[in-house]
Amino acid sequence: MIEKITGPVFEYLAEDERLIQVARKVGLPLGGTFFVGGQRTEETIDTVRTFNEDGRAVTVDCLGEFIESERDAAAIADECIKVIHRISEEGLNAQVSLKLTSVGLRLDPRIAVTQMTRILETAEQFGMRVTVNMEEEAVCETIIQVFEQLRQRFANVGIALQANLYRTRFDLERLQSTVRVVKGAYTGPEDIYIERKETVDATYLQLVKHNLLQGCYTQVATHDEDMIQEIIRFVHQQGIGFDQFEFQMLQGMRPNRQKELVDEGYRVVIYVPHGVDWYTYLMKRLAERPANIVFTAISMLRL
Ligand code: FDA
Repeated sequence: MIEKITGPVFEYLAEDERLIQVARKVGLPLGGTFFVGGQRTEETIDTVRTFNEDGRAVTVDCLGEFIESERDAAAIADECIKVIHRISEEGLNAQVSLKLTSVGLRLDPRIAVTQMTRILETAEQFGMRVTVNMEEEAVCETIIQVFEQLRQRFANVGIALQANLYRTRFDLERLQSTVRVVKGAYTGPEDIYIERKETVDATYLQLVKHNLLQGCYTQVATHDEDMIQEIIRFVHQQGIGFDQFEFQMLQGMRPNRQKELVDEGYRVVIYVPHGVDWYTYLMKRLAERPANIVFTAISMLRL
C-alpha cells in the first residue's frame, strides 16, 4: 500500500539529474554507508575487508547508471578493473558484479561485449567470478545473449535471474549455469511479470532447487527467512554439498543473520555497492520496497 505512494516518489528522485550531480559532489551521507560500500575505491576496499574479517565474502557491485557514450562505458569498466586489481592485491575474498547497461548494452551490445571481455580477462587472471546483474525485462533477452557469448570464452562469468518473470524458468533451463536467483526488483505488465508474492516465492524456491539439482552452482540471493530455511532443509534432504551454493544478501540487510549463517558453516556473500552512482542505487532500493527502510534502520541499530 505505502509502496504505491512512496515508490513513484523515489523513482522520480532516482532519475533527477540535478540531484544525481549534487549527490556525486556531496558524497555519501552517514546512513548511506550502511548500505553502500563506498564512493571511492579505497573506501569500498575497506568495507570489503571489514566483511571478510568475520568470514563474509563480498561481491562488489560496480554501479553505473547513466551511460551516454562508449567513453562512459569504458570508464565504468576501468573502475571495475581497478577494483579487481585492488581486491587481488589485498588478498580479499571478493568477486564483482555489474549491470551490462552500465558498460554500454543500450548503446550497442557489442560495446558491452568489448568492455566485459576486458573485465573478465582481468578477473580470470585472479580466479575471480564476475556476475552479470539482471535488469528490466525489455533488455533481459539481450543480456542473456551477451552472457551466452561471453560464457563461450570465460568460465568465470555468472548471471542473475529473476523469479518474478514468467520467462525465467525457461532461461534457467536454457543456461545450465552458475546462477544468482533473485526475486526481481522490477515490475511491469502482468503477462510478463508475476505479481502475486506467494507465486513469486514459490517460483523462487523452484528455481533454486532446480538449479541445484542440475548440479549448477547456485547463489541464493534473498533476505527472506522462509526462503533461506526451505533451501537449508532441501540441501540437507538432498545431500547437496555446502560448496555448491552460497547465500547472498545486500549490504546493510540482516547483518546478524548474515553472521549466523557463516557460523552455521554456510558460504555467505555480501553485495556491496560501489561508486559515484550510489544515490540512484539507494533511491531505487527505496522505490522498489520502502519496507527496506525500516529493515535497514533496524539493521543499523543492531550493528
Ligand atoms: P522480500 O523483499 O520479498 O522480503 C521477504 C521477507 O524477508 C520480508 O517479509 C522480511 O520478512 C524479510 N526481510 C527482507 N529484508 C529484510 C531485512 N533487511 N531485515 C529483516 N528481514 C528482512 N534484483 C534484480 O532485479 N536484479 C539483480 O541482479 C539483483 N541482484 C541482487 C543481488 C543480491 C545479492 C540481492 C540480495 C538482491 C538482488 N536483487 C536483484 C534484488 C531482489 O530482486 C529483491 O528485490 C530483493 O532482494 C528483495 O527481495 P527478498 O528476496 O529479500 O525478499
